[in-house]
Amino acid sequence: MNHSEQMEALRRECGPCQRCALADTRTNLVFGDGNPDSGIMLIGEGPGEQEDLTGVPFVGRGGQLLDQMLDIIGLDRSKYYICNIVKCRPPENRDPAPEEVAACLGYLREQTRILEPRIIVCLGRISATRIIDPGFKVTREHGQWVEKGGIHMMGTFHPAALLRNPGNKPAALADFLGLREKIRQLCPEVYEL
Ligand code: URA
Repeated sequence: MNHSEQMEALRRECGPCQRCALADTRTNLVFGDGNPDSGIMLIGEGPGEQEDLTGVPFVGRGGQLLDQMLDIIGLDRSKYYICNIVKCRPPENRDPAPEEVAACLGYLREQTRILEPRIIVCLGRISATRIIDPGFKVTREHGQWVEKGGIHMMGTFHPAALLRNPGNKPAALADFLGLREKIRQLCPEVYEL
């Protein structure tokens, strides 16, 4: 099976998930979107209201801001894969609880195994502390690249945080320009797609 077929099989397995209490309140499970072959993975926190209603990650106001910034560096969803730490919306957009993250993490691990990413971008604290470093501080460490197990990783501001604090947008854009350089080094074919 190729990456897309494996990802679709995992999506079907994940669809009826009842591993945690978020299953009781979700409208749709939000599995992931984009190109499973690109080698580039963006990981957010968890679905918000619009994502819960549509089943697609990052389609609300934060997602639109993210799309705009990625457009500046020439990326659309044909060129990366995007998903979240938890696949179901936490009520009132609260942080996912540790047991919800723990219950869901197996799906993210499988997604990562299928994608074999060269590059991971963590959107916000919840993602960066799970994936890069439990002590990760977005304001201090955003845009810094680390390598773990052959995967180049960077954490940046969550787009919802940028909507609340627009003063951080230039810093976020600088992080995305750094991402463009990293893609040119590691996955140049992505810009040929
Ligand atoms: N915020 C996230 O972290 N993920 C989404 O899919 C939408 C908003």
